Amino acid sequence: MNSNQAIIDVESQFTSGVYGKREVAIVRGEGAIVWDGDGNELIDCSSGYGVANVGHCHPHVVRAIVEQSTVLLAAAEFVYNDTRAQFEEKLVSILPDGLDKVYLCNSGAEANEAAIKFARLSSGKTDFIATVKGFHGRTMGSLSATWNKDYKKDFEPLIPGFSHVPYNNLEKMENAITENTAAIIVEAVQGEGGVKPSADGYLAGLRQLCDDKGVLLIVDEVQTGFGRTGKWFAVEHYGVTPDLLCMGKSLGGGVPMGAVGIGSAIQNLGPGKHGSTFGGNPLICAAALANIEAFQAEGLIEQAAERGDYLMSKLRQIEHPMIREVRGLGLMVGIDLKMRVGPVLRALQANGVIGMPAGKTVLRLLPPAVITEEQIDFVVDAIEKAILTSST
Ligand SMILES: Cc1ncc(COP(=O)(O)O)c(C=O)c1O
Repeated sequence: MNSNQAIIDVESQFTSGVYGKREVAIVRGEGAIVWDGDGNELIDCSSGYGVANVGHCHPHVVRAIVEQSTVLLAAAEFVYNDTRAQFEEKLVSILPDGLDKVYLCNSGAEANEAAIKFARLSSGKTDFIATVKGFHGRTMGSLSATWNKDYKKDFEPLIPGFSHVPYNNLEKMENAITENTAAIIVEAVQGEGGVKPSADGYLAGLRQLCDDKGVLLIVDEVQTGFGRTGKWFAVEHYGVTPDLLCMGKSLGGGVPMGAVGIGSAIQNLGPGKHGSTFGGNPLICAAALANIEAFQAEGLIEQAAERGDYLMSKLRQIEHPMIREVRGLGLMVGIDLKMRVGPVLRALQANGVIGMPAGKTVLRLLPPAVITEEQIDFVVDAIEKAILTSST
């Protein structure tokens, strides 16, 4: 099974159908490059939904997985484990000050799910305020916090007690808080909602509001974490520490992992209150530990910031009437178009670059931090050509 079509034919027969798939099969990856089943090379500006921040198959991560796999694959959280202990210590060392404990799980939605439960448990209150265009995942709790009605309408009733107010609007948030509000949940940069960074003072304003009103602050850093925005976590740009910080995607260096960073305001996390069979699995912890080590050894946080600036400045040099705005933070970049993004994405892929949509008109780029300037030049050129062909 070694051609795109052969792989597509078999998967199409057996896959559930819940994913809208592109007509390509990816079979290998290294750094910012992936190869399809026909041997074509593509620059991956999706990082596989924002997972491969450290690059595909980073050798340090691969080595750690291979080594751990010969020692111990399964050890659930009812016992302690050396690899997990090292990883937890390392993760806390990079989290914003004040987040001193971690809960480990398997995905971003699960991290948000856990944060929602922890906030109810800790506060004794039931309600949550999320934001218009916010995205937090597809499980019932995280979907309740998600805004897009199309993702929700077939699955109602969802969890009661969730409301949504416009992003970057402190006044509306303040007005929405009631005596039942357990927590506010927001992204530091809205991803799915169109790559919208939070306005200056917004997160700090939310922190102040939460402190004043006795409400918990959950920041969903599933997409923005691990160097994506040029800091370990996007909240660092704004000098804010949430009570619960949710992680996923690139946390595991390519393997499935979620986590919640937990602050001292969170109470009552006693045995039996929450859990997951695979949470804290040693193989995944080995990969995630190596992921952080690779970032530190290679200065990839600083590099993400530099390459993000380079990418955005190059994109802003493209002069085309169909480009409304180029915006973003670090290597989380959105090109807001005056046209639908679907045809542009298809043309881009034909030009050798994988991009992502964020809503109907935004082309989202989430390249790995290891992308080179030459590769960025190629990407920008391919985007310019894709917009030209799709708009004529
Ligand atoms: C901000 C944010 N939160 C949560 C999720 C859900 O993560 P997962 O798909 O790992 O459940 C995503 C996924 O795109 C996301 O971007």
